[in-house]
Amino acid sequence: CRIALIGVPIEVGTSEPGALMGPAALRTAGLVRALSDLGHAVTDHGDVVPDEPAESRGLAAVTAWSRALSRAVLAALEAGALPLAVGGDHSLSLGSIDGVMRHCASQGRPLFVLWLDAHADFNTPETSPSGNVHGMPLAALCGEPGFPRLFAEPAPPPLAPSHVHLFGLRSIDAGERALVTARRVGVTDMRTIDEFGVVAPLRRVLDGVSALGAHLHVSLDIDFLDPSIAPGVGTTVPGGATFREAHLIMEMLHDSGLVRSLDVVELNPFLDERGRSARVLVELVASLFGRRILDRPTLPVEAV
Ligand code: ARG
Ligand code: MN
Ligand code: MN
Ligand code: MN
Repeated sequence: CRIALIGVPIEVGTSEPGALMGPAALRTAGLVRALSDLGHAVTDHGDVVPDEPAESRGLAAVTAWSRALSRAVLAALEAGALPLAVGGDHSLSLGSIDGVMRHCASQGRPLFVLWLDAHADFNTPETSPSGNVHGMPLAALCGEPGFPRLFAEPAPPPLAPSHVHLFGLRSIDAGERALVTARRVGVTDMRTIDEFGVVAPLRRVLDGVSALGAHLHVSLDIDFLDPSIAPGVGTTVPGGATFREAHLIMEMLHDSGLVRSLDVVELNPFLDERGRSARVLVELVASLFGRRILDRPTLPVEAV
């Protein structure tokens, strides 16, 4: 397909410096080449420039980025391309998903968000223990109170919490835990993955998206992965997805044919070891866009 690569070197949503180098590291690790080798037409749109120079951290600075990124994502979708936003901290999803929501609203199409992350990112300014905006994007997108005007007017209707699915959750703060429960956000936590693996829960989610006829947006936070395979992130949490689980998820997403937009976030090259986290992310993105071991489908075990 046509892929619009959009770099978002934002780190004002976190207190750990270094994520602004994420887009550069992913390009260095060969992201464009990996996708064009699969036959996709990739256009690298360079890095987004925030609407006003953002010197400080926090919501005002994030807003300047979100508005610019939202326009870039919307333009890509309107041109028939699949926007791939690479960060940059997870606050960038405020902008990318705002752009996707505008596109979906104009087409009368429902939106579903799959959030691959160790965290829920469902804090509000009131519940957040850290004040870091990268822990808040889903609450803001779902219309929780307590946020200033983040988006350009007219703002699209908020995201439905029942159309959000947190996959890989294993770290959640008390306040956001209460919110995620009260709003009935979909969750496949690590306990569920330990018990059932990734295939059955993910298939359920994808069947649901397909029944809705929804646009599927995937937001991949690198801390979804176990720190042993991806140490280059400021918020590592032990017990994450293995290399093989993560690849299988990407292959299932590809096979579903449902993914229409993607974020790859939280890579912090300053904390990485010789580029290995950037490289594993490029491989995962390639799998999501169709890289496979064999050209023919692997036969089911009974049929061999
Ligand atoms: N829940 C914590 C907080 O609100 C951590 C959030 C981490 N988010 C992320 N996108 N890495 O500060
Ligand atoms: Mn569309
Ligand atoms: Mn996270
Ligand atoms: Mn996150």
